[in-house]
Order: sequence, then C-alpha cells, then structure tokens
Amino acid sequence: MIVLHDAEAIRAGIQAVARRIRERFEGTELTVLAILRGGIVFAADLIRALELPVRLDTIGVSSYRGDTTDPGAIQISSSPSLDVKSKAVLIVDDILDTGRTLSRIRADVAARGASQIATAVLLDKPARRAVPIEADFVVFTVPDVWVVGYGLDHDEKYRNLPYIAALPAPSG
Ligand code: IMP
Ligand code: MG
Repeated sequence: MIVLHDAEAIRAGIQAVARRIRERFEGTELTVLAILRGGIVFAADLIRALELPVRLDTIGVSSYRGDTTDPGAIQISSSPSLDVKSKAVLIVDDILDTGRTLSRIRADVAARGASQIATAVLLDKPARRAVPIEADFVVFTVPDVWVVGYGLDHDEKYRNLPYIAALPAPSG
C-alpha cells in the first residue's frame, strides 16, 4: 500500500475545508448529511471543525453498478431522519467518483425541500466522472487508483486506517 495522505495532512486539509464551509454558512444552522458508510469518518472530523450550529443525519445508499438492466442505478436504502424542508444541508461523502451517488442524493435532498444544498467530499477522483457534478468542497484530488482508509474500503476492509492509501493494481 502506498500512503497518499497521512493523518497530519488529512487533519490540516479538513481544517482548511471547514474554514471555507464556516465562511459560506456563517450564522446558519447546517444539517450535515453523511452518506453511509464511508462518509461517516470524514463527517465525524468535519463537524468538530465547523464551529457552526450543526444537526447530524445519515443517508444509506446501495448501488447496482454492473447490473445490466440498470447500470449505475443508486437506491436509497436508509432515509434521513431529520426534516430538511427550508434547511441548509451539507451532503458529506468519502469520495466523488462517477458522481452517480452524489447527484442522486443531491436530487433527493432537493426534493425534500432544502433551502440550500452544498456538497463536501474528502476525495475527488475526476478521471472517472460519468455524471456532470462537482463537489463544492474537496479536501484532496486523487488519481484513478483504488484508494482505502479513512472510511474508504476494499471488500469492507481498511475503513479504519487513519491515512489514505492506494491499493496496488491486481497483477497478472
Ligand atoms: P460514485 O457514485 O461512482 O461517485 O461512487 C461513490 C462511491 O463509490 C463512494 O461513496 C465509495 O463508496 C465508492 N468508491 C469509489 N471509488 C472508490 C475508491 O477508490 N475506494 C473506495 N471506494 C470507492
Ligand atoms: Mg461510499
């Protein structure tokens, strides 16, 4: 495994993004919606750096990537609990890859009547974008490699690593 961003770099990166979010939402209560499961590690650190009044909620998704009948379809498998009607919402995920997850959830939050919607991701992998969406707040941009740690998994492993690493491409 090759370490791309160590714990100290992540801490500093999250502080910098938190400052920008705080400036954008000064004086506003923010409903932070963390995408399960990978988004919770970043969200946990981000909310403690925000210094804003925050409500915390989660949303669960399942994707059917590779399903030939509906490739890339994203289903909401667990709905948020809080009412976001007329609220400012910050959607938080671990990585923006094809963009399908974030655009699906953004549309869902808009349909629930949020007054403002912003998106924050720990990582952006622009090389694989399939849906035209950019996050408002990005901590790091990564190349087109499989990354793990800090919420990101490979077969449900490595989510707890305190750093972000690239897995070597399978050989042979
Ligand atoms: P998207 O819908 O393609 O943007 O995918 C976003 C989701 O795919 C993320 O929330 C991750 O769960 C997963 N994902 C995409 N790339 C990686 C990666 O490099 N490592 C781990 N998970 C990833
Ligand atoms: Mg995920």
